[in-house]
Amino acid sequence: MTIRILPYAVMASVALGAAAANAADIAAGKEIFGRTCQNCHSIEIGINKVGPSLWDVVGRPAASVPDYQYSEAMKANKAPWTEAALDAYLADPRGDVHGVKMFFKGLHEPKDRADVIAYLASLK
Ligand code: HEC
Repeated sequence: MTIRILPYAVMASVALGAAAANAADIAAGKEIFGRTCQNCHSIEIGINKVGPSLWDVVGRPAASVPDYQYSEAMKANKAPWTEAALDAYLADPRGDVHGVKMFFKGLHEPKDRADVIAYLASLK
């Protein structure tokens, strides 16, 4: 098992053993975000790059950042970004929302998606 840097995670690992190793990990999600999302997305309010700002994205309606030019496909996707919706989207962006202009192949590992979503949920 890897050594966790977050104190609560260390405590959880001691208490729960293997179960904690499977829990979504914000620090790991931040690292994945930096590697795979950050070129196209900022996490600052009002800063849009190729993609819209992802500040406070968890729970917000799709295509709701002002001043960002979404595709018609994303504008038609009215569902809020729940954790389940994000999981389906990030697994296969262009398969999940047809015609979307996010040219990203997706995160294939469920653990990677859970970690990134945990990180996004921490941005409030
Ligand atoms: C190559 C650039 C690119 C990469 C890499 C990328 N995205 Fe995107 N993303 C976009 C674009 C462009 C859109 C807008 C899609 C549209 O309007 O069709 C978008 C839209 C989104 C949305 C919808 C936001 C909203 O306001 O409705 C989410 C959530 C999202 N991306 C998450 C991610 C995450 C998490 C990653 C990394 C795992 C990622 N994206 C990687 C370009 C990218």
